[in-house]
Amino acid sequence: MYHKLMTCLNSVKEKIDLKPEVALVLGSGLGDFADEIKIVDTIAYTDIEGFPVSTVKGHKGRFVFGYVKKTPVVIMQGRVHYYEGYPMSDVVLPIRLMGMLGAKKLLLTNAAGGCNPDFQPGDFMVITDHIATAVPSPLIGPNIEELGTRFPDMSEVYSKRLQSVIENCAKECGIEVQKGVYVQFTGPNYETPAEVRLARIWGGDAVGMSTACEAMAAHHMGMEICGISCITNMAAGISKTELSHKEVQETADRVAKSFKELVTKIIVFM
Ligand code: HPA
Repeated sequence: MYHKLMTCLNSVKEKIDLKPEVALVLGSGLGDFADEIKIVDTIAYTDIEGFPVSTVKGHKGRFVFGYVKKTPVVIMQGRVHYYEGYPMSDVVLPIRLMGMLGAKKLLLTNAAGGCNPDFQPGDFMVITDHIATAVPSPLIGPNIEELGTRFPDMSEVYSKRLQSVIENCAKECGIEVQKGVYVQFTGPNYETPAEVRLARIWGGDAVGMSTACEAMAAHHMGMEICGISCITNMAAGISKTELSHKEVQETADRVAKSFKELVTKIIVFM
């Protein structure tokens, strides 16, 4: 795995000079943030040797390098999901790559279903913690000693400092944010109502198909992490209607403008 990582890293470094400070992952329907920044360079995942390639509609599948105000960033416009069939070690490879390019801070975003009945579609949720029990750990397999320790602590995966940064930025933008625990399931199917009740009993506030595994891999290698879920729908059983990817994208589109404003501010203050 380390060898594969180094091959991808060298392939990217051949094409890119920019050393990012912040890494950003854009979730479903939130990808057009990357079109608004000062872009220096882009690399399609397909142009990186050995790189897993995203196949989801609405996910572009490229790294964007550039500046948000004065901060050098690397953005994943489209992530790799476990449900696409890749092993977890491949799913988190891009995250590790961004860390190895020099990004010490990571902002993860996603579209998620709300299982906290106080939430509404269109809400943003600051991720305070996650539950990844329903998916394999990305750290299973031989430990990559170059990245981190075999048995990493997970007491504060989502940096308290960065959670405050998000809350303060939201306040300045006049955007209300929720806080809560993200539960990762494998997807690609949405959850059953019983699974959503389980997530709620576990202490979850939102359910989704990504992010927690990425946060674990990033935390393992010492990155400082924060995350925002866009609650695009109420989760199955709470929602009165059937779930669809269309609904997810429509809600994401509806809040895109305030999302972009918020993310821009957060990156400046990270
Ligand atoms: N469940 C899982 N993933 C999701 C959902 C959901 O309800 N909405 C957006 N992504």
